[in-house]
Amino acid sequence: MQRHEVVVVGAGLAGQRAALAAVQAGRDVAIVTKLHPLRSHSGAAQGGINAAVGKEDSVETHIYDTVKGSDYLGDQDAIEFFCREAGPTVVEMEHFGTIFSRAPDGSLARRAFGGAGFPRTIYAADRTGLALLQGLWERLGTEEFTLYEEWDLTELVVRDGRVQGLIAFDRKSGAFEGIAAPSVVIATGPFGRIYGRTTNAHSCTGDGVAAAYDAGAFLKDMEFVQFHPTALLESGILITEGARGEGGILKNALGERFMSRYAPHVLELASRDVVSRAIVTEVAEGRGFPGPYGAYVHLELMHLGREKIESRLQEIVDFSRHFAGIDPVTQPIPVYPGQHYMMGGVGTNIRGETNLPGLYAAGEAACVSIHGANRLGGNSLLETLVFGKQAGTAAAEHAQSAPRAELSAADVEAAQAPLRAWSSRPSGEDPSALRTELQQTMEKYVGIYRTEADLLEGLQRVRALRARFEQIRVVDQSKVYNLNLTDALETGHMLELAEVIVVGAYARTESRGAHSRTDYPKRDDEHWMKHTMAKKTAEGPNLSYTPVTYTRWEPKERVY
Ligand code: FUM
Repeated sequence: MQRHEVVVVGAGLAGQRAALAAVQAGRDVAIVTKLHPLRSHSGAAQGGINAAVGKEDSVETHIYDTVKGSDYLGDQDAIEFFCREAGPTVVEMEHFGTIFSRAPDGSLARRAFGGAGFPRTIYAADRTGLALLQGLWERLGTEEFTLYEEWDLTELVVRDGRVQGLIAFDRKSGAFEGIAAPSVVIATGPFGRIYGRTTNAHSCTGDGVAAAYDAGAFLKDMEFVQFHPTALLESGILITEGARGEGGILKNALGERFMSRYAPHVLELASRDVVSRAIVTEVAEGRGFPGPYGAYVHLELMHLGREKIESRLQEIVDFSRHFAGIDPVTQPIPVYPGQHYMMGGVGTNIRGETNLPGLYAAGEAACVSIHGANRLGGNSLLETLVFGKQAGTAAAEHAQSAPRAELSAADVEAAQAPLRAWSSRPSGEDPSALRTELQQTMEKYVGIYRTEADLLEGLQRVRALRARFEQIRVVDQSKVYNLNLTDALETGHMLELAEVIVVGAYARTESRGAHSRTDYPKRDDEHWMKHTMAKKTAEGPNLSYTPVTYTRWEPKERVY
């Protein structure tokens, strides 16, 4: 049995920042991660991090843009705190060693991003997440902490009304281990792999979010799923919004710059939900380019010139050449929306505290809520750092005064029992087949446009998959790197979270931000200006609602 004061699950930006804060507060800290920290999904973030720096921009505008972008579902006190932390956070990361792109006068270079009233997205070419991850990892490496690498979280242990620790298995040996700790921070990132077409890494399976839900934490606003307008055709690889920020334009098969119909003022730089719906509409109405992977539209960069494209959008050039066989310097990029970000997650306050004493969450695994119904590009990297630090600090404070965490060998034994059953069955369902069916179901019935009939069908299918999951068989009997077992564990997590998304989406009879119901096309502030809170019960997710916090911005119609 291991023992620490603070255990952080996940080693991306939010997890590392939480760990650093807890170490700096003097606590004994461990990180549990299924990947090497530098392989975390944070490294896939391309376009940049928002901060109102410089004389022309203002924190007030950043706050307003974020409130508006959220379709007035974001909590305004949290958004104010978040935006005020942005400048100091970027400066801190630079001091940690992140090398940002510069303007000709040597100041931080900034680019335009969707839904922003000013070009405030600071970047490192189109590898911003990776640059931040490397800077933070180097800084964290100067401190003492324990790293449990390639460990999969199986469950949180909550007893006597508070967190006692967690159970995980070490992929390298197959051994199940318990870690006693009074404070656990969930920073396991998103769960976009429940969709077939996603910009998320294969590792994004929501393990920490599902474990928190199982342990009794509320999941918040799970129905709000963001689709990025420009995922590369076939592979779903992200083509950064920075490409449009640098001047890239979208065209349909008739050669029309169609965004003029949907966002006449800002065109391609409307918020993501607006641009994604526009592309889907163009294709649905027959103005897409046909292709074996479905119809699509073009993202044109050619007019920007080779120098700009190859210096500011290096990854985009590589991805387009290697994964689509086209050269964006001379050819348009084939794109279509793909799942990108989960606005929902473990419900927390500004300090990362959940409804369970000792349990904290930060980053995409959490819902504070600052993004409300739709996140603005560039606010996600910032969120990981601002709220990672908050959660780590709060977790450290709690650990200092909490009673000793109690975890026993019996807890570890009990956690293994269901997984043993998967391996000992002579026959059963194949977990990876269930995963594929889940992805197809979410794609088809819980996508960008939603209807009651589709959501009901989606819910029945997800529930049928969950029932079949009870009969899975893990064929591989080996202990070392049993990826069949890992796959099964992750699939269970994804099925559970998918059910919460569909139930929330079915209940919300309005359209707001990324949740677009064609049967309820209007935003309904009278009935739906509230957060969805989902709690696990034996019958499925139980929904309740909490009010949105307002400070200064009255809800208005959102136009771009
Ligand atoms: O398009 C992008 O580079 C994505 C950025 C984000 O999601 O914040």
